Amino acid sequence: MSNGSLDNDIEHVLLSTDQINARLDEIAADISRDYADKDVLVVGVLKGAVMVVADLTRRLTIPVSMDWMAVSSYGSGTKSSGVVRILKDLDADLHGRHVLVVEDIIDSGLTLSWLVANLRSRGPESVEIATMLRKPDAAKVEVDVRYVGFDIPNEFVVGYGLDYAEQYRNLPYVGTLKPEVYGG
Ligand code: XMP
Ligand code: MG
Repeated sequence: MSNGSLDNDIEHVLLSTDQINARLDEIAADISRDYADKDVLVVGVLKGAVMVVADLTRRLTIPVSMDWMAVSSYGSGTKSSGVVRILKDLDADLHGRHVLVVEDIIDSGLTLSWLVANLRSRGPESVEIATMLRKPDAAKVEVDVRYVGFDIPNEFVVGYGLDYAEQYRNLPYVGTLKPEVYGG
């Protein structure tokens, strides 16, 4: 796999750090306006959303609480099945809270639609979704997403929280991997 520089494994950059930062500024302004005077709980979905949560919440001008959830999608290989197991649940009680789920990427939408239904069953005042990336061509279920960073082509991407075999999460941009990295 990677030897030496992280950048060596990248085929092309899809979204630069500057593009990501500019879009985060816009989304944060929208969220700060929409949730003014509301009691917001930001729910980050581990592990991919760590970068988005960190960078997005630091741009908000409203106070928020943060909590984290880790889920794993049952299924063969890398395909999401929509059958989800909670690996780490929230600490927070959702009753009466305005929940903003923050995701790195929505692919088929199966994991997220399960997650939103699960969170809605816990008595929150509202549940909305913010995602940095979305692959519209991969959608298998319709998920109502309030804030989208970028719609991207249906290809595998890494960086800015997204991994291949737990690597590349720390790339400060989003890119595609050279085919040889997949062990071809
Ligand atoms: P769904 O249920 O929407 O699953 O199909 C979304 C999850 O799939 C992973 N995923 C990716 N991870 N690069 C990645 O590193 C990608 O291009 C990609 N597409 C989907 C990711 O874990 C996401 O939460
Ligand atoms: Mg994820």
